[in-house]
Amino acid sequence: MSELNKIALQILSNGKGILAADESTSTMTKRLDTVKVPSNEKNRLLFRQTLFSSSAMKNCIGGVILYDETIRQKTSFGKNIPDLISSSGSITGIKVDTGAKMLAGSNEEKITEGLDGLRERLKDYYKLGARFTKWRGVYSISEKYPSNLSISANANALARYAALVQESGMVPIIEPEVLMEGDHSAKDCFNKTSEVIKKCYDELELHNVDLKGTILKPNMILPGKDSNEKVSNEEIAELTLECLKKNVPSSVPGIAFLSGGQTEVEATANLNQINIKNDTNFIMTYSYGRALQQSALKFWSKDINNIIGTQEIFDHRAKMCTLASQGKWSENLEKS
Ligand code: G3H
Repeated sequence: MSELNKIALQILSNGKGILAADESTSTMTKRLDTVKVPSNEKNRLLFRQTLFSSSAMKNCIGGVILYDETIRQKTSFGKNIPDLISSSGSITGIKVDTGAKMLAGSNEEKITEGLDGLRERLKDYYKLGARFTKWRGVYSISEKYPSNLSISANANALARYAALVQESGMVPIIEPEVLMEGDHSAKDCFNKTSEVIKKCYDELELHNVDLKGTILKPNMILPGKDSNEKVSNEEIAELTLECLKKNVPSSVPGIAFLSGGQTEVEATANLNQINIKNDTNFIMTYSYGRALQQSALKFWSKDINNIIGTQEIFDHRAKMCTLASQGKWSENLEKS
């Protein structure tokens, strides 16, 4: 087993998942604005160190994705953040893309940037303790989008990123996110996501990326936010599994879904159904941002010094997600 494959399995095995705490400062500021907490370095650190010190870290969270600011911070009790994460047996990850910018040649689509100087930045992150990384490509659905240009340009960037990350001894998370915004049907999401994922694996192969040392972070197959289509958790699971079975090579060890704007319970219920129906060899787990943090953030904002109370909320959410990644969740457990 290669070292990278071992890292990927350590992050994803035994029902564990990933805490995506890699919001850029501007995204974190938006999140803090909604709960009326000033977004400054101290508050961003306090909320994050509260989560990273919780008991869920040992039992549920196999890896944490950080943002550049956080990986360099020390907790208020003087510990480096990567050391705090590894003290509970979890692995430190880092978002290495520098965000999505307008794609030249297409009026309304985006391309993710960050390849310039990446090899040097990766060396720095490795020294700081990171052992896996994340890069997110974004695609929106409409009649004419995503265009072939955006599918191809983002897949190429994801593959170049992944090759550089493996060269530096870390596991790349490949995140092609087909967004929920819009009134498209679940079938449209299925078709577009299939095209996007297929192209990513064509490019990854071309760039000689060892798929056993990677993790895929896709969206689930859902109707658009503004669509009136009613789709059950079972149907979402079936469509999602069909899409992944058709387009993801079997050497990929695991798939960790993003939540993408689903509520905490929706994201948990859908993951649970996916695992009940999972007839593949892929580990199917979570790499949630909002669907792990939302309730904890809301609670914390009422009293930012209530560490224990905030951790209880986060522990519960992480436990529900970990049960879902084994197909053992049920709605009744939400009340426990
Ligand atoms: O790139 C997106 C994040 O890592 C996951 O965030 O679960 O809120 O969509 P989300």
